[in-house]
Amino acid sequence: MKSRFEPTRCALIFWCLFIGIGAVGGACCMFIRPDGSIMGMETLLPYFGVLPFADILFQNYLFSGFALLVVNGITNLLAAWLLFRRKKLGVALGGIFGVTLMLWITIQFCIFPLNFLDIAYFTFGLAQALTGLAAWIFFKQEHLQFDPNSYKNIGTNASHLVVYCSRMGYTQKLAYQTANKTGAQLYRIVPTEKVSGTMGYWWCGRFALHRWAMPIEKCPLDLSRYEHVTICTPIWAFSIAAPVRTFCKDSAGKIKAADYVLLHFSSPKYLKAAHEMDTLLGLSSSPVQSVRCRCGRFKTLTK
Ligand SMILES: Cc1cc2nc3c(=O)[nH]c(=O)nc-3n(C[C@H](O)[C@H](O)[C@H](O)COP(=O)(O)O)c2cc1C
Repeated sequence: MKSRFEPTRCALIFWCLFIGIGAVGGACCMFIRPDGSIMGMETLLPYFGVLPFADILFQNYLFSGFALLVVNGITNLLAAWLLFRRKKLGVALGGIFGVTLMLWITIQFCIFPLNFLDIAYFTFGLAQALTGLAAWIFFKQEHLQFDPNSYKNIGTNASHLVVYCSRMGYTQKLAYQTANKTGAQLYRIVPTEKVSGTMGYWWCGRFALHRWAMPIEKCPLDLSRYEHVTICTPIWAFSIAAPVRTFCKDSAGKIKAADYVLLHFSSPKYLKAAHEMDTLLGLSSSPVQSVRCRCGRFKTLTK
């Protein structure tokens, strides 16, 4: 699957270098001419009078230059270096330094009259912070700790089946864990529509919002052969995932007993989704487990 992390990593490197090099350049100008004349900032010095210790720190631009170098210069260059080396810390710091820049400019909003440069740099800080957030999410999605070969017990119990559908691998990981506990066999529901990547997300959203069943590859298994089937589904738009809806419709009357595992990002338990699967399969009051997953961390909300 095409990486979504890589473009955001490059964009974050751009922001860190742009802000970092600019800040180092600005600080150097302040050190060379502490009166601010290189950048035409001599007339702005009196505005610093409202800040604490202004009579000591802000009689010239030496302290401002030092603060600029440390807060926006070295920090952003360090984040860029970590990002070049593909370090997770670089992703976090790159985003955080976008917030730092916004806070810096907020102070400038308070002491200087409103001006174009402050508005522009606040926008840059916001863009950097949002790029960092996106990079962090994509990094987490693409570095899900999952080794299918480490679940040795899967497939040892021929009477139990675990069925799952997964776009990003979270439900897959949970399905593997569930199957490993009982030794169940595993079956992955394969949608025939595009579900991967950003376009896939929106396409899935369309099916989810309309409560449509999404076309899937025909299940080759004889479901009536199993004593028990566990169905693991991500929650899409407060309901079961569209490919799971199709699977349940196709499997009506074939499954003897079932239980459900619901995986979602937000805190509600989405128990209505289990009710929908029961209705589609012709079962009633099947056990349900609701699991919240954030940044790869699973939390069971109900047993
Ligand atoms: C189209 C779509 C709609 C979603 N709607 C919800 C939702 O309503 N509530 C929620 O908590 N999570 C929602 N999610 C998030 C998924 O439930 C969550 O990311 C899940 O962990 C994905 O599992 P997977 O990696 O196995 O595909 C939605 C995801 C998609 C793709």
